[in-house]
Amino acid sequence: MFDSILPAPPDSILGLTEAWKADPNPLKVNLGVGVYKDAAGNTPILASVKAAEAAILQAATTKSYMPIGGAPEYGRAVQELIFGDGHEIIGGRRARSAHTPGGTAALRVGADFLRKVLPTATVWLSAPTWANHKGVFGAAGFPTADYPYYDALGKGLDFTRLREALEKIPAGDIVLLHACCHNPSGVDLTGDQWQMVAAIAARCGWLPFLDFAYQGYGDGLAQDRAGVLALAAACPEFIVASSFSKNFGLYQDRTGALTLVAGSSAAANHAFSQVEVAIRVNYSNPPAHGGLIVTRILSDETLRDQWLAELTAMREHIAATRVRFVAALASHGVPGDFSFIARQKGMFSFSGLSDAQVRFLRDSKSIYIVGGGRINVAGITSKNLEYLCTSIREALAST
Ligand code: LMR
Repeated sequence: MFDSILPAPPDSILGLTEAWKADPNPLKVNLGVGVYKDAAGNTPILASVKAAEAAILQAATTKSYMPIGGAPEYGRAVQELIFGDGHEIIGGRRARSAHTPGGTAALRVGADFLRKVLPTATVWLSAPTWANHKGVFGAAGFPTADYPYYDALGKGLDFTRLREALEKIPAGDIVLLHACCHNPSGVDLTGDQWQMVAAIAARCGWLPFLDFAYQGYGDGLAQDRAGVLALAAACPEFIVASSFSKNFGLYQDRTGALTLVAGSSAAANHAFSQVEVAIRVNYSNPPAHGGLIVTRILSDETLRDQWLAELTAMREHIAATRVRFVAALASHGVPGDFSFIARQKGMFSFSGLSDAQVRFLRDSKSIYIVGGGRINVAGITSKNLEYLCTSIREALAST
């Protein structure tokens, strides 16, 4: 039965790491997958996470099952992180959160739930978007369509075309928005633009579905909530998929959350019971470990302060790397204005490199970049900066 199956192509992001690992070139550089790296090129476990883990192991008494939606304390901690302490949505119990295995499962569970309740909807994705969005919503059975987002010429947001497109999306459709640190472009909406998008969502009646994978990597935990809060003020119903891979560094512990906001507490509970059905048939109930870490850190003042300082350091390191990269490109004689890289937010930079240049860098220089030219800025270190700049100069000259 399996003899005639053709192999699937490698994953466009995770597949790069495998190719990079297998590459014998000692100069090889991995700027593919969105994983934080420090100045030495390592992805360390945060000290706050280590401390929380030690306390959790010490106190653990059982490995019995979790509730389908995860621990209630985790849900509360997640909501305070997303909306801020004391937000009306929390007080009014209009949100329910499920602990999911990473942000990807939050998206998939959300998609499975929505496919049941909005079976004729189309899911609208930004052009460009994270490569896996189309796959996740497609796997849940949704047709997907694009809305304009990035202006390749101006290297910024094409807000005029974005707004026009959002105005035309029919009621009952679903619009996936990146809450901050847009992946792959690094180009975000301003607070005013978020207010306008939220007003359009309320007027047109489409459902906002926020992918919130980088809270704290843009301008700070509170600042990065601007989009969520604008939607919360205008729309009674929306969905948020959170990931704690990047801001807690819990990549391999697969720790995320799906938060559903409804018009009333009763509506939230009813809808959430359908989310639980979607979870039960997918993975039954979540793996506990990462959720215990997040809950512990957020509920202990000392650990929380330590984590906030570590998150700030990661954000500032990437911002400083952006500035260093722009200066190094200029000092190595790479033609063009790359100042836009320093203005982008989050882990990624949309470098402007063409697919042919990305191929050249991989095949001739062992520099791994996601198709479309997305660079993980955190992968740039003082050790590889010069090699990277001279290689980019060659790539631009050769194609
Ligand atoms: C990325 O975009 O590189 C990350 O979100 C990792 C992934 O799962 O693709």
